Amino acid sequence: MFAKMGIPPVFFLLILLFATGCAQKPGEDQDAKTVAPAVTQIPAPPQAQLTPREEGKRLFDELGCVGCHAIFDRGGALATDLTDVGSRRSPEWIRQKILDPASLPPGQMPPLGVKPSEADALVAYLSTLK
Ligand code: HEC
Repeated sequence: MFAKMGIPPVFFLLILLFATGCAQKPGEDQDAKTVAPAVTQIPAPPQAQLTPREEGKRLFDELGCVGCHAIFDRGGALATDLTDVGSRRSPEWIRQKILDPASLPPGQMPPLGVKPSEADALVAYLSTLK
């Protein structure tokens, strides 16, 4: 077939050798090529995959709740221990306490500007503590 096209097969061999042998210039950093795509494939930060309960657990630390409240002996002693808050309070009650602390007695907890979506996650966590 090649012969019919008037191109000697040797020509293709040369192209093949050129393509494979010379594709990489001597001294070229092969690692740079292989590392770059790997970096972009690093999975998203863990919080993107957290369940609401796990997210609530994370927020309890991040929003500073842990500074005043303890859970399982970890955290501050300035306010009620929340280790079993899920057996004492309903999810709705906990949510309102987080979003508007002064609206529920005794109302000593300061308002913390927690977003509703954050409150949902905190409730998902705290209401499982029984
Ligand atoms: C500056 C200290 C402080 C911080 C920070 C704080 N709280 Fe409180 N919290 C209190 C105090 C004091 C009480 C108890 C008095 C009251 O109910 O007002 C309380 C009560 C509560 C209660 C009711 C507990 C019960 O059984 O009656 C819940 C639930 C609660 N806090 C959740 C949270 C969450 C969630 C956060 C973080 C977003 C948080 N708190 C941050 C001081 C704090």
